[in-house]
Amino acid sequence: MNATDMLLDVRGLRIDIPTPKGMLHAVRGIDFSLKRGETLCLVGESGCGKSLTAMALMGLLPRKALRRADMLNFQGTDMLSLPERAFNRLRGDRMAMIFQEPMTSLNPALTIEQQLIDVHRQHRNVSVKEARERALFLFEKIGVSAPTERLKQYPHELSGGLRQRMMIAMALMCGPQLLLADEPTTALDVTIQAELLRVLRNLQEEFGMGLILITHDLGVVSRMADRVAIMYAGEIVEQGDVHQVFNRPSHPYTRGLLECLPIPGRHKHMTHLPSIPGVVPSLIGDFVGCAFRERCQYAEERCAAPEIDWRQLPDGQGYQCIHPVDSFGAMHSAAMHEVSR
Ligand SMILES: Nc1ncnc2c1ncn2[C@@H]1O[C@H](COP(=O)(O)OP(=O)(O)OP(=O)(O)O)[C@@H](O)[C@H]1O
Ligand SMILES: [Mg+2]
Repeated sequence: MNATDMLLDVRGLRIDIPTPKGMLHAVRGIDFSLKRGETLCLVGESGCGKSLTAMALMGLLPRKALRRADMLNFQGTDMLSLPERAFNRLRGDRMAMIFQEPMTSLNPALTIEQQLIDVHRQHRNVSVKEARERALFLFEKIGVSAPTERLKQYPHELSGGLRQRMMIAMALMCGPQLLLADEPTTALDVTIQAELLRVLRNLQEEFGMGLILITHDLGVVSRMADRVAIMYAGEIVEQGDVHQVFNRPSHPYTRGLLECLPIPGRHKHMTHLPSIPGVVPSLIGDFVGCAFRERCQYAEERCAAPEIDWRQLPDGQGYQCIHPVDSFGAMHSAAMHEVSR
């Protein structure tokens, strides 16, 4: 890969949060990278550290959270040594985020126009008229009906779908190179969800933006991702090209997740989808060995060893497990082939 294609390079990212019960190790040393125009999906069950990872990249962690990393490089800039003011200049400009809850980033007391113009003029030396034109240009791309009227409205006057679109518009006002989208469509019904994902993908292709998309919906992953990173209890347990990971899931947790996917035919007569039995271990304090072992049907004594090796496969896919990829057999492969774009 050409070094200039690299947009984001994250090595050894850790996030710790002090709690009354002890230190909560929410993110436990994760590595990932993103190229221009690429989509990386971060996937995993609730509480595995997806949102905190995105917030750490944006410099928006809760005040008490402690962030450490061996490397946090964005477009050649070392973000670890970046002063707060420089970080503020990046945020909303070269990198932007769509939050899990739209009202987090929309101010209920201001009209959409005031907010969109404001964010643009904070970062760019443009007139109000130019900023308004930019907002209307984005509205057209995003498919906002009655755009000039929308500008005059307050967030509470908009439907859920429109609020999400406004958040996307806000994030795109400065044409960011990196967009972090945290469950951007979860609260929406499926048709609006599909439409917004299509919009995001088109915008990304048009502007060459790198996208980190957080979701627990593997259907969304299969439609959107170039690469996928599977998180479990604060660690990335598997990552690689989306087709490789879906066709050859190598960590037992990834296999479990894919088995829970509704597949036409397979789950026709079931009232409930299967789910992975057991619960995620507490993130407070250290744990030794594989965090998934209590729930893993392949677990052995060796899984409690302090260091579990990362197995790197020749085609870029990698996973953290003691078992070689072939040892699970081909039992899942028939189902996996049905999960493709
Ligand atoms: N402000 C906070 N104080 C204490 N613990 C927190 C705080 N924010 C997050 N956590 C904990 O950190 C862990 C990771 O949280 P995070 O919000 O990143 O999860 P997530 O993967 O985004 O989950 P979800 O899918 O539910 O959004 C969770 O165990 C959560 O309880
Ligand atoms: Mg979250």
